[in-house]
Amino acid sequence: MGSSNLVFGVLCLLGNIVVTLAKSNRDICSPDTLAVYRIKMDSHWYKNSFPKQYPTSRPPAQFSRLHGIVHNSSYILWREGLEATPEVRLIAEKGSGEILEQRKGVRDVFAAGRILQGVGMTETIFYSDAKHTKVSVISKIVPSPDWFVGLDSIELCMNGYWLNNLTIEAGPIDAGTDEGFTFTAPNWASEPQSPISMITSKNPSHPANSFYYPYLNELPPLVTFHFIKERVYRANNKRLCFGPKHKKSKFSKISTVVVPLPDSTSRTLHKRLHARRIYKKAASEFNNWKISGLSLE
Ligand SMILES: *[C@@H]1O[C@H](CO)[C@@H](O)[C@H](O)[C@H]1NC(C)=O
Ligand SMILES: *[C@@H]1O[C@H](CO)[C@@H](O)[C@H](O)[C@H]1NC(C)=O
Repeated sequence: MGSSNLVFGVLCLLGNIVVTLAKSNRDICSPDTLAVYRIKMDSHWYKNSFPKQYPTSRPPAQFSRLHGIVHNSSYILWREGLEATPEVRLIAEKGSGEILEQRKGVRDVFAAGRILQGVGMTETIFYSDAKHTKVSVISKIVPSPDWFVGLDSIELCMNGYWLNNLTIEAGPIDAGTDEGFTFTAPNWASEPQSPISMITSKNPSHPANSFYYPYLNELPPLVTFHFIKERVYRANNKRLCFGPKHKKSKFSKISTVVVPLPDSTSRTLHKRLHARRIYKKAASEFNNWKISGLSLE
């Protein structure tokens, strides 16, 4: 902690602009911190591993956008054994739709691009604060009736520290809203809806099921999720660091303006935190402040 506090102090003296870029390995998830994570989804839907009915055309094997949400323990995006919500149903059946952010207990929503083959990678970043330390994601398996891959409420604050990185393998999940057994089964709504369930090599226990490999104990992983802690921002509660205009911001106490970093992470973060205006102001007040890698349009 020592050296990052020093950096923080010095930068604040320079310009009364808040900034910290503590990239230490141990960052306490205290209420004045904001953690930025990169999430990557690697897909392993190889024809060799999943030869049965492997979709090769119209459409070939692929994955929809990866939708994600950062939340507290009161919110559930999807959970095994529960019925899919309408928004999860829409994503699982059509691969379209959005996850709504205006919910109790939600801090951030994000999405990463589609993977247009069975094997590929998609990634994005998101942020999390000490009150919202859980992340859930969902991506539709295409083609499929209502199958998806995803994660339910992964905890990012472990024993009081922001997790450095985490790797999780995952398999197919049935949203329970469509009766289809095979990748290309026609739409046939489940009435009533079934609970969300894991698809395994033996379940649903039906030879027509596209993931039915009764001689396997387990399916090979269909995807792997990686969470990588990019940085942790620490707040400075001095008023100067955040103007009155930003009172409405949920981050008004976590006054966060970021030093320019020449990568897309900081640009996205700026956008997300509506920090652009603050940054502009800061930049005009402190002419010597070097701006690099940041577009201020
Ligand atoms: C989650 O956030 C909501 C809205 O701020 C709040 O009402 C709820 O109590 C929170 N849940 C927990 C477990 O803190
Ligand atoms: C994950 O964290 C461990 C321990 O901090 C580190 O050794 C490893 O290099 C990290 N892996 C990635 C992919 O960042």
